[in-house]
Amino acid sequence: MEHKKLWIIANWKSNKNIAEALAWVSEVGSKIPRQESLKVVVCPAFTDIEEVKKAILVGNYPLLVGAQDISPFEDGPYTGEESARILSELADLAILGHSERRQNFNETDDMVADKAEQAINYKITPLVCVQDENTPVPESVQLVAYEPVFAIGTGNPDNADNAAAVATKLKQKHREDLEVLYGGSVTSENAKPFLQKEELAGLLVGKASLSAEEFIKIVDLASKI
Ligand code: PGA
Repeated sequence: MEHKKLWIIANWKSNKNIAEALAWVSEVGSKIPRQESLKVVVCPAFTDIEEVKKAILVGNYPLLVGAQDISPFEDGPYTGEESARILSELADLAILGHSERRQNFNETDDMVADKAEQAINYKITPLVCVQDENTPVPESVQLVAYEPVFAIGTGNPDNADNAAAVATKLKQKHREDLEVLYGGSVTSENAKPFLQKEELAGLLVGKASLSAEEFIKIVDLASKI
């Protein structure tokens, strides 16, 4: 059976210490189907990334590791920042321009563009979060997540038809081969219609990704599309 190409990306945000992260990996890792069409990524806190990466390698799990942010600068005198070069030892992907960063840390579109450039220079896939089709997407970015603010962490997801319509507009505006994910209050109960939409390339999952059981259910749904 031909499966649809899908990303399922766990955004843990500011949750889970190392012990909690490792418990999740050992529960989830062996239950992820080895499927060419399915890319499952976990984005832990910076301090968890190395241990998570090691546990994935030891278990030989089909899981990629992402960061939740990246510095807009090269290595250098930027206290508190994690540069793309440093992260490239561990991270395959980086979430950029999440609305929580735009709101709480004054992240601007220009900063997001600089971060995306850094990521690409060090072979980290940038995943740029947009509010709608009007959020700028830096050139050469191939993966975006449509995450309307009203849907993030509210229990009030957008509907799949609207998400698909936004995805179409984003592709028309930027590039036909743009991969558009949906994010915002995704659960195992509501994931299926988003996964089925031709225009959408998967899901960015926040709260529901913290539970190993719930996340496995979402991955399982995706593996059957
Ligand atoms: P949520 O978060 O699933 O908890 O709504 C999604 C996100 O912000 O990436």
